[in-house]
Amino acid sequence: MKNLLPELIHLPKIEDPRGNLTFVQQQVHIPFEIRRVYWIYDVPGGQTRGGHAFKEQEELIVSLSGSFDVVVNHGSGTQTVHLNRSYYGLYLPAGLWRHMENFSTNSVAMVLSSTEFTEDDYIRDFDQFLNTRRKGI
Ligand code: TYD
Repeated sequence: MKNLLPELIHLPKIEDPRGNLTFVQQQVHIPFEIRRVYWIYDVPGGQTRGGHAFKEQEELIVSLSGSFDVVVNHGSGTQTVHLNRSYYGLYLPAGLWRHMENFSTNSVAMVLSSTEFTEDDYIRDFDQFLNTRRKGI
């Protein structure tokens, strides 16, 4: 069975009186090559984003500004990770159901993805996701 564990990664933080700096390198801080970057912003209060699983996509979710919760379901329970520092990234392997909620005002969620965009990689039906998990694929 594939690795299904989310991991909170502490990224390098170069502290400087002029302002702090954080970076991420593929295959060094995250175990995949970055094929795409997207970000979620201007989220109205109370809205959720996500709410699906990916068949192949691995990702790193970073709160560049503000805060939000990532709720991860691995098929037999959920885990909620609060992201509110831009030097933490939540690594999610493929095969997890996840959504984002509790966005603070002006929050920005950046997602580094291991794949180019294709709708075929999405599992948007929760029962289908659970069946996939039961079969261990
Ligand atoms: P989606 O991933 O479904 O967002 P959410 O799960 O939060 O609703 O993406 C929303 C729309 O944006 C959907 O029509 C697909 C499109 N989209 C792209 O075209 N390219 C991308 O890289 C992403 C992430 C989404």
